[in-house]
Amino acid sequence: MWTCLRHVDAPVETRTGRRQNQKQCWPRTSDKNFKTVSVNAWVEESEGEPGLVLGLRGEPYWLLPGKSGGIRNFALRAECTHLGCIAPWNEVQQKFVCPCHGSQYDPDGTVLRGPAPHSLALAHVEVVDKGNARVRLSAWTEEDFRDGAAPWWS
Ligand code: FES
Repeated sequence: MWTCLRHVDAPVETRTGRRQNQKQCWPRTSDKNFKTVSVNAWVEESEGEPGLVLGLRGEPYWLLPGKSGGIRNFALRAECTHLGCIAPWNEVQQKFVCPCHGSQYDPDGTVLRGPAPHSLALAHVEVVDKGNARVRLSAWTEEDFRDGAAPWWS
């Protein structure tokens, strides 16, 4: 399923080096669904499949459905680690399959087949603003839980 792009809050570094949260904006050419991601709405619309959002620095990320509902606490950068094509979720194969050169990734973003050299990059997913349950992504700088290695993307 290819879900429309949405907005998420993301920490942004200001000119003075201070970090503050800002909504990452998609150019005005976005579709009519231009709005902040809320967990409840996302879960309802995602129908148990990954959904594409705009996250850190406006980059595309896959939000992932929780194994028993809700949302997983990590997101996957949607850009293939080979040459950067967006790797869409293949509902039938239950994996991310890059249309450019055929790389494949499992539901956690672990690379299954090259030419991609790495697994998909990770970001933390937090639910903020309890009332509206908005989603916020933040940088993943610690060990990659999939292979125990330092994150190649930071
Ligand atoms: S860009 Fe994805 S396999 Fe080449």
